[in-house]
Amino acid sequence: MIKLAPSLLAANFARLESHAREAVTAGADWLHIDVMDGHFVPNITFGPLIVDALRPLSKETGALLDVHLMIEKPERYIPEFVKAGAELVTVHVETCPHLHRTIQQIKELGAKAGVTLNPATPLSTLEEILPEVDMVLIMSVNPGFGGQKYIPLSTAKIRRLRQMLDAIGSKAWLEVDGGVHAGNIAEVVQAGADVLVAGSAVFGGKNSVAENISALRAACS
Ligand code: DX5
Ligand code: ZN
Repeated sequence: MIKLAPSLLAANFARLESHAREAVTAGADWLHIDVMDGHFVPNITFGPLIVDALRPLSKETGALLDVHLMIEKPERYIPEFVKAGAELVTVHVETCPHLHRTIQQIKELGAKAGVTLNPATPLSTLEEILPEVDMVLIMSVNPGFGGQKYIPLSTAKIRRLRQMLDAIGSKAWLEVDGGVHAGNIAEVVQAGADVLVAGSAVFGGKNSVAENISALRAACS
């Protein structure tokens, strides 16, 4: 079953909870929360307080809080994010010199652990950690901003990662983030993704969030 994870980066921050709620009511499975620090990526977004503010919605509806940490030295903040309600915490390999330790830290705190790669970072950097993770996230844009164009080379990378996961019998989720919309979601799913992040394609444009989510579902089924 394909999971949709709307990225709150594209939501209306003046009414974040109700916008997120619209997405969940319309059938979104997870809520994707993009944490940026102005160092690892050239933008600043949310901290643990926002995760905490969304926790009641998550508890009420079962929508998992999927926290994507685009920050340097993520190990400093992981405990706070988990305490705030992050159920799945994803770190970038580019920010973790001791990636194995950081993945263990997330799991010991009781959350699921994800790992992610920038578009130019090769899959070979994941080889040793793959059996330990609950999710691999493929960035299909350079992280930092919503509304960018899907990088076409990502599809082959997703396909190769799917083969790597199958080869070790891993049940980890394969999430894709960046530039996913109704026009390319089928390609991404066919390549092997099972969790799709979408920001602009859910919260942007002139159609309602519910219409956007139905269009994404229809396009990938
Ligand atoms: C980019 C973020 C993405 C982004 C996706 O750094 O990780 O989650 O918000 O937005 P769209 O779907 O608009 O590309
Ligand atoms: Zn993201």
